[in-house]
Amino acid sequence: MSAADYSASAARTDSHDDGPAFGVYVHWPFCLSKCPYCDFNSHVRREQIDEARWVRSFTAEIASTASRLSGRVVSTIFFGGGTPSLMQPKTVAAVIDAIASHWPIAPDVEITLEANPTSVEAERFRGYRAAGVNRVSLGVQALDDRALAALGRTHSAREALDAVGVARAVFDRYSFDLIYARPDQTSEQWSRELRSALVEAGEHVSLYQLTIEPETPFAALHAVGKLRPADENTARILYDVTQEICAAHGLPAYEISNHARPGGECRHNLIYWRAHEYAGIGPGAHGRLDIAGERHATATEKRPETWLARVEKDGHGLVADEILTSAETADEFLLMGLRLAEGIDATRYTQIAGRPLEPDRIAMLRQHGLIEVTPPGRLRVTLSGFPVLDAVVADLAA
Ligand SMILES: C[S@@+](CC[C@H](N)C(=O)[O-])C[C@H]1O[C@@H](n2cnc3c(N)ncnc32)[C@H](O)[C@@H]1O
Ligand code: SF4
Repeated sequence: MSAADYSASAARTDSHDDGPAFGVYVHWPFCLSKCPYCDFNSHVRREQIDEARWVRSFTAEIASTASRLSGRVVSTIFFGGGTPSLMQPKTVAAVIDAIASHWPIAPDVEITLEANPTSVEAERFRGYRAAGVNRVSLGVQALDDRALAALGRTHSAREALDAVGVARAVFDRYSFDLIYARPDQTSEQWSRELRSALVEAGEHVSLYQLTIEPETPFAALHAVGKLRPADENTARILYDVTQEICAAHGLPAYEISNHARPGGECRHNLIYWRAHEYAGIGPGAHGRLDIAGERHATATEKRPETWLARVEKDGHGLVADEILTSAETADEFLLMGLRLAEGIDATRYTQIAGRPLEPDRIAMLRQHGLIEVTPPGRLRVTLSGFPVLDAVVADLAA
């Protein structure tokens, strides 16, 4: 093993799957302003949001979902957005109560809420904690005021750090997000920024490379040459630097963009990546439900007001409920599972797909140093394979 290989494997952490888990995702689709890079289902509304009406609809959709999913125990709940930290604590409490009235809640349940630094106040956070939230994830994005302005963020680096301080004071578990590979960002600048951010980190951080999403203002600027994100080579250098710095700080990658101290992983997101079961509540929420031996892919109406109207009429906002074939389920298992440092259980793949992975393809990818087989019977993408993950998955899935 070369020195480079050694530091590469040291940059990763190996969690392992403890078996089936069930999570509930709740989508809050509103933000104070729309960031020009973001294509999440998030909307700005001038008028006051009638949160009591939203609670009634969330409650109805939870009841309708629960009627199809008896016997589950809730391991995780995730309030995502949009900006869920704009919800009143009593709204969050009512949704958690509605979930608890249909399914037993595991004693060690993880309940995460996403927060934007512009809407973080200590009292509100204490309200979320009283409601049952035990983990927050903050959208810090950058620790450089010029970069924050360029990202269209309405908070300063100081305000973001103050919000992290509030999170740390109120919650045992907190995480924050940063976006890197921003236009003109050098490896030296990013290293400095990341190191100073990690001083503030708890057990978890999410570090995303800037993606130019179609139909966003950033895509329009990119199309006319007014925004140049990092090229492939720079992005790769920044990615490698990220792995090194985080590992040295005790926060190795457990997923392509997520870093944690051992045991600090986001258990809700692990449910997605490990292809377990989750219900999607609220506008534009996706679910994967295992009913009578079949895997259902569900999706709800995206537009907030249309979702409300549908739920008020039908008791749910479902617009798609498709039974996945075993090939589709197996492809999804690969696509999600190979994002994890722990990789996938090859036997579980065989059970889902009804056939094993092609030994020739595995051999070829191993030869190129893109995947490795780890005992007992696990397959994972190497650090050199991560930047070309989509190609590796496509090769194995084909
Ligand atoms: C749904 S947002 C929730 C956080 C909260 N609304 C906020 O912005 O503070 C989840 C995260 O996705 C990341 N994100 C969104 N769009 C992105 C893009 N185009 N490229 C990279 N990361 C992005 C950001 O880091 C953001 O914090
Ligand atoms: S990044 Fe967060 S605050 Fe900005 S538009 Fe997207 S969801 Fe809203």
